[in-house]
Amino acid sequence: MTFSTRVALLTAGAVALAAIGAAILMYVVLQQQLVAQIDQSLIDASRAARESGPRGQQRPFPPFGDPGRIAGRGDVFAQSVDASGKVVRADLNQPDSALVTAAVRRLATDQQGDASFDVVASDGTHVRVYAVPIGNGTTLEVARSLAEVDRVLDESRNRLALVAVVGVLVAGALGTFVARTALVPVRRLTNIVEEVSRTRDLSQRVSADTNDELGRLATQFNVMLGELETSLRSQRQLVADASHELRTPLTSLRTNLELLERGQPTDPTERGHVITDLVGQMERLSTLVSDLIDLARDEKTQLIVEDVRLDQVAEDAIAEMRLRYPNVRFQLDGAASTVNGVRSRILRAVTNLLDNAGKWSPPGGIVEVSVRGNEITVRDHGPGIAPEDEQRVFDRFWRAPAARQLPGSGLGLAIVKDVAETHGGRVTLERPTGGGAFFRLRLGAASVKA
Ligand SMILES: Nc1ncnc2c1ncn2[C@@H]1O[C@H](COP(=O)(O)OP(=O)(O)OP(=O)(O)O)[C@@H](O)[C@H]1O
Ligand SMILES: [Mg+2]
Repeated sequence: MTFSTRVALLTAGAVALAAIGAAILMYVVLQQQLVAQIDQSLIDASRAARESGPRGQQRPFPPFGDPGRIAGRGDVFAQSVDASGKVVRADLNQPDSALVTAAVRRLATDQQGDASFDVVASDGTHVRVYAVPIGNGTTLEVARSLAEVDRVLDESRNRLALVAVVGVLVAGALGTFVARTALVPVRRLTNIVEEVSRTRDLSQRVSADTNDELGRLATQFNVMLGELETSLRSQRQLVADASHELRTPLTSLRTNLELLERGQPTDPTERGHVITDLVGQMERLSTLVSDLIDLARDEKTQLIVEDVRLDQVAEDAIAEMRLRYPNVRFQLDGAASTVNGVRSRILRAVTNLLDNAGKWSPPGGIVEVSVRGNEITVRDHGPGIAPEDEQRVFDRFWRAPAARQLPGSGLGLAIVKDVAETHGGRVTLERPTGGGAFFRLRLGAASVKA
């Protein structure tokens, strides 16, 4: 059963139930009201009958046999019953023993208890009987035919049944209509989802013009599509950039290898140079590949998140840099600091910053490293970064024109940015007075988004 059928059936069922319930309720209320009217007329009649007796005279009264005398109504029949249950007197001298029920007889014998109402079948019609003790061992019975009430109720029953049937039909139509209109946005969303999975076109969007649950679902769906689209685009970009960057070292590797294959150069010293070149290119290539893997790695792979001493990471990185750049003086101004994150990734980010500083420092230049709280800053006294390049230094593979002859692939700062962001922090570039470059890496004290 489809969801819309279910909604249609539920709605129709609810409306139909309401229609039938209302019809039944109306019938019951009508019945009670009609009977209550009859009962009131019988009570009035019995009172009138008792009061019409001549004062101080011996009863029996009322003056039976004169229809219409009782409370001025011709439609009320009265008779009196003695203690033995025998009808003593009756209107029109036509006693009706069918009206002497067991309850009336009991009332007549005991002369106690309250007045009682009853419905009796007499001559094929329903009769409402009201019995009330009037003393002297006599019970007065006043009765009124329910034929008219029955007729009205019959008629109403038919009419109300018709109303209920029409109600059920309307409910069916309403249910279908409600299901159709209420599910329009769902159907629209479904169509788009089907379209996206069929065409894999993530640029599709659902119109989310309402502010209700479905509108929110549509909005969130659009957000999800947007995120997927961005992520897919950046992955494609990374692959395109990477293959482009890999081609250059591969081409020169190939050229050198072909040279060697042809037995050139013959001079052993030159040959040695070519081989050293080859090894250097191989190294660049493997660094590039590991950088790429670092960037493309799915953060959900099991990396150990722990409390990391940022000052110790800086010390380790500086120790390595001192070997790599013996002519540069690295100075650490570190206070004990702990951040929450993946140690190897943080070390990588700090190393990348220090590597740049070392690479761009003039011989004998000073690199100042400072650790404060969950921040580390690196400052060098090299050429610095031109204001127009500030936005691009963190882009993958971007290198300043002046950097082209130095080793590197332009992935270093992209990795720093990635590490900062996955650790809930950020990396910023500041322009210090006195030139040089100044990088501030802030790591979130909160746990890593893994
Ligand atoms: N401390 C710095 N001083 C001057 N320029 C810098 C500095 N750090 C980065 N840059 C500029 O930003 C560019 C990008 O830096 P990034 O670290 O991403 O790449 P790279 O150092 O060239 O290569 P890799 O780090 O991948 O070996 C550099 O090529 C350089 O032009
Ligand atoms: Mg670098």
